[in-house]
Amino acid sequence: MIDSFGRRITYVRMSVTDRCDLRCRYCMAERMTFLPKSDVLNLEEIVELADIFIARGVKRIRLTGGEPLVRKGVDQLVSALGARIGGGLDELTMTTNGTQLAHHAQPLFDAGIRRINVSLDSRDPDRFRHITRRGDLIQVLDGIDAADESGIKIKINMVALRGLNDDEFAPMLRWCGSRGFDLTLIETMPLGEVEEDRTEHYLPLSEVRERLTRDFELVPSIARTGGPARYFEVEGLGVRLGLITPLTHNFCDGCNRIRVAATGTVYGCLGHEQKVELRDLLRGGGAVAVDRALGQLLAGKPKGHQFRIQEPKPAVARHMSVTGG
Ligand code: 5AD
Ligand code: SF4
Repeated sequence: MIDSFGRRITYVRMSVTDRCDLRCRYCMAERMTFLPKSDVLNLEEIVELADIFIARGVKRIRLTGGEPLVRKGVDQLVSALGARIGGGLDELTMTTNGTQLAHHAQPLFDAGIRRINVSLDSRDPDRFRHITRRGDLIQVLDGIDAADESGIKIKINMVALRGLNDDEFAPMLRWCGSRGFDLTLIETMPLGEVEEDRTEHYLPLSEVRERLTRDFELVPSIARTGGPARYFEVEGLGVRLGLITPLTHNFCDGCNRIRVAATGTVYGCLGHEQKVELRDLLRGGGAVAVDRALGQLLAGKPKGHQFRIQEPKPAVARHMSVTGG
């Protein structure tokens, strides 16, 4: 799959549910309405779609949500997709909030998952509850321990939030170092209504980076993933720091990814509405129709996005939980 700018699509993020057991302030509204089940691809359809992508050259699939581990049957799904590793697929990964990890870690490892991203915005229980509006930190830390023990490599995702966790970057990095986890800091992105003023907590990572260089030596790393993060080796800690700065940098030139919502809607870009609907085609259109729709998506995949946090309206109406970032 190659788009009109010559970018080869080898990475697909698939949201397996829009639901989540948390309500992180920057991500969701307190009272979210989730999709009816019939709108969401069933597990067979997700596998079918993944197979189409793999046949067309996709090498990496990341399962996301919402929270992927709240989807019923997710272990079977992961094991079905894991069976494709080595047969066209190079890697299967997951982004999770960790609340259900304690009992899913082993099945994930057994299915072939070797790396996961776990979202963790604070290691203070009260703050964690505040930011997520309901989360239990201990549950997540137990999940992280279980994944670690099963042999899955963990990367921590932390959204940088002014006034909420901005004194925790150095301690989080040290903790990650002590546990052997890479850390990625993420700027808040204006996706979906969240009932809050996102600009209030917006913190540019340029500022965070500047502060971290007082305590750590950050050596720009050559690691490139085609993704938006810039990576640094943290001297003496043996882990990497990633900075995802969609608002202050343009990372679109090397974009190798597309995103599938739980409904089977495929988006060419996180910051655009451009999309094709595959669900009904999967349910009755046949392989040719699906292929044609994917061709349309590639032809129209936007060159890039221009997020701006200050806009009164979100840059795109859909929440991150629709496409899993
Ligand atoms: N801006 C930035 N990060 C977000 N995430 C969810 N919504 C947003 C947003 N609006 C984060 C989650 C998770 C990752 C996939 O994206 O915390 O770590
Ligand atoms: Fe759930 Fe992740 Fe959104 Fe938090 S950021 S509400 S964990 S989907």
